[in-house]
Amino acid sequence: MAFNKRTKIKDLLDQTPEQQTITVMGWVRTRRSNKHVTFIALNDGSCIQNYQIVADPASIDEEPLKKANTGACIKATGKLVESQGAGQRTELIVESLEILGEADPESYPIQPKKHSLEFLRENAHLRMRTNTFAAIMRVRHQLAFSVHEYFHQKGFFYIQTPIITASDAEGAGEMFRVSVLDPKNPPLNDQGGVDFKQDFFERETNLTVSGQLEGELAAMALSEIYTFGPTFRAENSNTTRHLAEFWMIEPEMAFYDAEDNQNLAEDFLKYIISSALRHCKEDLEFLDKRASEEEKTKKAEQRNDMSLLERLNFVIENKFERITYTQAWEILKDSTPNKKKKFAFPIEDWGTDLQSEHERFLVEKHFKKPVIISDYPKAIKSFYMKQNADGKTVGAMDILFPGIGEIVGGSQREENLEKLVQRMEELHISREEMWWYLDTRRFGTAPHAGFGLGFERLVLFVTGMGNIRDVIPFPRTPGNAEF
Ligand code: 4AD
Ligand code: MG
Repeated sequence: MAFNKRTKIKDLLDQTPEQQTITVMGWVRTRRSNKHVTFIALNDGSCIQNYQIVADPASIDEEPLKKANTGACIKATGKLVESQGAGQRTELIVESLEILGEADPESYPIQPKKHSLEFLRENAHLRMRTNTFAAIMRVRHQLAFSVHEYFHQKGFFYIQTPIITASDAEGAGEMFRVSVLDPKNPPLNDQGGVDFKQDFFERETNLTVSGQLEGELAAMALSEIYTFGPTFRAENSNTTRHLAEFWMIEPEMAFYDAEDNQNLAEDFLKYIISSALRHCKEDLEFLDKRASEEEKTKKAEQRNDMSLLERLNFVIENKFERITYTQAWEILKDSTPNKKKKFAFPIEDWGTDLQSEHERFLVEKHFKKPVIISDYPKAIKSFYMKQNADGKTVGAMDILFPGIGEIVGGSQREENLEKLVQRMEELHISREEMWWYLDTRRFGTAPHAGFGLGFERLVLFVTGMGNIRDVIPFPRTPGNAEF
């Protein structure tokens, strides 16, 4: 029998028991026995449910049964029958049992009990064998799949942008260098600096912080495109919202203005969240219960008014609030926490950047729903954003979500060559190095816009987890690159 003749537990749950012979494979979650019978709860990751396997020690070999302890991988063949016990419709009466992989019960870290998230992070190589992490990974998969589905249905093309790049798209200088030079003895140039001309690419290169600039090149040919790839930021932010390596979805559209951009982003977010609700019902119900348990451990004032599932439905059913930076600034300036000096960064002059405490106030206390803030001061945003007629603001937008803060950042782009060049000069961005980007404005420029959705921030919101390290299989954060 070929190995993949096994039945996945997800498919087995739907089968009518007619004494048919079935083979299942998976990892033992628990085993309990009495004199007459052994019950094994088996999980193969295809769904959250364990499957009950029943073995009569008198009728099968004793040796494999003894080794089928928590963590072991087994293959069981037997008859599918109606279950005698409560909790499942059918069960498998084992006729033959094979151990595919033993697990020493003394040293296997993932025991059938509650482990802390910190402990599981240290055991990230095994944590997907828990209900919580397997559920998160299945939801993550569904969300990624719906991203492609959404854009494909709308006629957008998936473009792969380079991971190694010589440009800093966001101009924030938070890049990881890519080099093959000997760090102990790099070649030096006449000025005493490292001579990157002798490096692999004959120039200084880094891991990309965004695929946007190349995405814009594609949109100026294919009209509507999106990227979905890994991005890297060497910002030393040790928070529950930041990763050094994260995945970003960046649509870029010709013939879109700032409002079209907001409409697309809102529709897109609602679509992918709905599809997770539709396709990951059991996993989300499990994560909802988990999140509710977690809520009970929080102080009353930090608790959510809504459960996870209520929050997800709320986002789908309600229009996002849309305000400008200036309106946000006015609300914040007159807010009680600002007057009572509760903000670590008091709101005073127009033009300062909003901190996460301000974003959270707007989303969680003031509007109590997702908020799109537009038209930010140009001084706090990137060089490529469309300059508004007031000379002070740009056609930027940030989308803020409850419990997350910024989930999307985007803008209409400056399509006018002179204005773009002038802004680059003000910010000391080299025109010579960016010649290819400027060429789009030189040849057939067009109004266009786009945004970036941080994929892990989305997964964080949808799964109700509290730390971004728990929604990516192997997180990369300052001081942590294990696994
Ligand atoms: O706001 P950002 O920096 O925007 C850009 O990179 C633009 N090029 C996007 C575009 O217009 N095409 O990043 C976009 C999103 C943020 O809103 C946030 O969700 C996420 O990326 N993000 C991070 N997620 C996890 N860890 C980090 N360190 C992140 N930095 C940004
Ligand atoms: Mg941003």
